[in-house]
Amino acid sequence: MSNGMSQAAATGPCAEAGVTIRRAGADHLDQIVDLDARITGLAKPDYWADIFERYGTRRSHERFFLVAEAPDGTLAGMIAGEVRGWEFGSQPCGWVFMVSVDPGMRGQHVGECLFRAICDAFRKIGIDKVRTMVRRQDRLNMAFFRAEGMVAGPYIQLELDLDEDE
Ligand SMILES: CC(C)(COP(=O)(O)OP(=O)(O)OC[C@H]1O[C@@H](n2cnc3c(N)ncnc32)[C@H](O)[C@@H]1OP(=O)(O)O)[C@@H](O)C(=O)NCCC(=O)NCCS
Repeated sequence: MSNGMSQAAATGPCAEAGVTIRRAGADHLDQIVDLDARITGLAKPDYWADIFERYGTRRSHERFFLVAEAPDGTLAGMIAGEVRGWEFGSQPCGWVFMVSVDPGMRGQHVGECLFRAICDAFRKIGIDKVRTMVRRQDRLNMAFFRAEGMVAGPYIQLELDLDEDE
C-alpha cells in the first residue's frame, strides 16, 4: 500500500463490499468520531484526534490507520494497528487494536476487507504474524476474528486491580 490509496479491488471482500481502502486522513476525522459515537454512544473527538496523530501521521511505515470508503466517500469502517516487538521476547508482530464497521454496512465483508488490507500492509514490511486481544465474552468480535483465521496464541493476558488504599 502506498501512502495514499489502494486500487479498488476487482475481486475479493473489498469488491463484494464495494469499498476502497485508504490510509485515514485528517479529512476523515469527523466521520471517524461520528462512527465511533454511533457505536459506543459517546463522542470522543480529542481521543480520536490523538489516535490519528499517533497512528495516522507518525511512523507510517509500521503504523496503519486505514479506512474503508463507500463509493460516495462515506466511511464504511476503519481499522488500526502497528508493529509491536520484543515485549517479553516476542518477535515483532502486527497488532490490531481497533476495528469498527458502520452498523448499516455490516455483514457485507467490509470488516474482512479492512482486516486483509492491514494484514497485507504488515506482510509487505516482513511481518509474518498478526495478533489482537478480544474479550472472551465478545462473541461478535470473536466470531469475526476466528472467521479471519485467528486462533488462540501462546501468550496470556494478566492483570491486577490497583487499589489506591494499598
Ligand atoms: C466485527 C465487525 C468488525 C465485523 O465487520 P463486518 O463487516 O460486519 O464483517 P464481515 O462481513 O467482513 O464478516 C466476515 C466474517 O466474520 C464473521 N462474522 C461477521 N459478523 C458476524 C456476526 N454478527 N455473527 C457471526 N459471525 C460474524 C462471519 O464468518 C463473516 O463471514 P461470512 O459473512 O462469509 O459468514 C463489526 O461487526 C464491528 O464493527 N463490530 C464492532 C467492533 C467493535 O467492537 N469495535 C469497537 C472496539 S475496537
